[in-house]
Amino acid sequence: MANSGFLKLAEERYSCRAFENKPVPDELIDKILEAARLAPSAVNRQPVKVWVARRPEVLEKLATTTKYLFDAPLVFVVGGNPSQAWVSRHDGKNRAETDACIAATHLMMEIQDLGLGSCWVGSFDAAAVKALFPEEMEGWDIIALFPTGYPAAGPSERHAVRKSMEEFAGEL
Ligand SMILES: Cc1cc2nc3c(=O)[nH]c(=O)nc-3n(C[C@H](O)[C@H](O)[C@H](O)COP(=O)(O)O)c2cc1C
Repeated sequence: MANSGFLKLAEERYSCRAFENKPVPDELIDKILEAARLAPSAVNRQPVKVWVARRPEVLEKLATTTKYLFDAPLVFVVGGNPSQAWVSRHDGKNRAETDACIAATHLMMEIQDLGLGSCWVGSFDAAAVKALFPEEMEGWDIIALFPTGYPAAGPSERHAVRKSMEEFAGEL
């Protein structure tokens, strides 16, 4: 039986690295942001922020910080704020990045569910991004960029490569 629901969505999602030259409607952007806003976070601290970049002059500036925006018409920038996050007393770990990654995953999967494409981009100059928007990003670590739009390419070869279930999962 074919999968449905979330598993189907997870199967169908891939890193999209080419986009149509077509804007994403505001109501879809709102849904994507809502999916990210609803993400869980440690002790519900919600130390996460998402910025929307779609104005051509902003996209041009962002493109100086990474090779991986693929001329997308829209980029989500996800930040985590360590001063707002929960810190475990067991190991002293600050969970800002964990919380930001959960919200980022919600965002990425909602993009997929809306029939759009995106790519989680971790290879960018975070200091350069912050230098472009110093007031907005004061206190925030920049965790990921998501170039987003209507897909104009399918998955790369890497998409099909996953560990076997035997390697991936185990019983204790
Ligand atoms: C934390 C993280 C950082 C990534 N950074 C980049 C990146 O900078 N550039 C890029 O093209 N893809 C990036 N990717 C996408 C991965 O290469 C991709 O998810 C992986 O190869 C599996 O392919 P798939 O997403 O198509 O299934 C990143 C993914 C993750 C989760």
